[in-house]
Amino acid sequence: MSAPITPVESLQGRFRIASTDHRRRSPFNARLLAAIADRPDVASILQAAPPEQQLPVLLLAAVHSLVLADASIELADWYPTTRSEPRTDDPFPAFVRVCQARNDELRAIVATRSTQTNEVGRCALFLPVLAELARERGPLALIDIGTSAGLNLRLDRYAYDYTGDGTGGGAWRVGDPSTVVVPCGVRGPAPLPSAIPMIAGRIGLDREPVDLADDDSIRWLMACIWPDQHDRFERLRNAIEIAREHPAAVITGDAVEGLRGAAAVVSGSGHPVVITSWVLNYLTPADRQRFVATLDEMGADSDLSWVALESPGLCPGMPFPAEVADSFLTHLLVGHWRAGRRTVRHLAECHPHGYWLRWNAADGQ
Ligand SMILES: C[S@@+](CC[C@H](N)C(=O)[O-])C[C@H]1O[C@@H](n2cnc3c(N)ncnc32)[C@H](O)[C@@H]1O
Repeated sequence: MSAPITPVESLQGRFRIASTDHRRRSPFNARLLAAIADRPDVASILQAAPPEQQLPVLLLAAVHSLVLADASIELADWYPTTRSEPRTDDPFPAFVRVCQARNDELRAIVATRSTQTNEVGRCALFLPVLAELARERGPLALIDIGTSAGLNLRLDRYAYDYTGDGTGGGAWRVGDPSTVVVPCGVRGPAPLPSAIPMIAGRIGLDREPVDLADDDSIRWLMACIWPDQHDRFERLRNAIEIAREHPAAVITGDAVEGLRGAAAVVSGSGHPVVITSWVLNYLTPADRQRFVATLDEMGADSDLSWVALESPGLCPGMPFPAEVADSFLTHLLVGHWRAGRRTVRHLAECHPHGYWLRWNAADGQ
């Protein structure tokens, strides 16, 4: 009989699987993950993390954060985020040396951090639906639930490059020139806006917001980007600069408990639009029900909209249309509460980071 698999061997297996998953989108990470899978001493660092956080990308982000904090270390020579011409030979011996020399530090990082994102690419997905809402209702008041660093609240300071069917096959630039330009390939009859809608109020809510004034928190957010996804890294860096220059208020609190309070902050400034992007999957089923019940209560009092960019299959119990309710892809949906009546429509299937959208031809915008 073979010996039972040890916890470290099980972790090594996770690294092996993660390597295959990363092969297409991040060859840099895939190479490191495959090498870690053969090194129990390196993989075991992740045992310092709580069991539900023992994700291979957490260890990669922890090492990336050390590289970003001190670009003079040897390993930084391989990272596209710290060198314009990174080395292309095997980074793993240098990676192991960092893991050995800074083992305690890495264990402390994985024990206390979890991976975090704030994906401004998603603004290209929000924009068409927000422009439609602004056309219908006038200036908008954005309430971004699970806002992270609040970067998507400044979507009116970014420029957008749409290409594809929605424009008749050509290129479609929206927004003033900006250091953040978000590209998005469009399939289907998307109602691409000719101008950025007027955002008259904005507020973010997050149970653990990223503090833009705190360099460690910002570095961690950046470390969670895969090192060879250079466009996302640069976009994030520039969006952080814009956000520091043009701050928007962010409240620390729970998505359900804090929803009404957050909406109250921007009350009266414009048509209230609640935004959620890759947030509802973190809520318990009961909390998701309470989230929608709270929207229903708010929508009974005054007109309200909700723009959701979520994976419906990860959020069972939401009032999403049956045709997407079981889908694990990313979908754009809009909820309207008008005169107390709720309707929810499916608008598009999307890339989770906003690189493309496929508009639902059946949607009668
Ligand atoms: C995957 S990130 C997405 C961030 C942002 N919406 C975006 O699209 O880039 C999920 C965010 O939701 C927040 N979050 C998770 N559960 C939450 C809850 N119950 N209440 C408030 N925020 C929550 C996390 O702290 C994190 O910032």
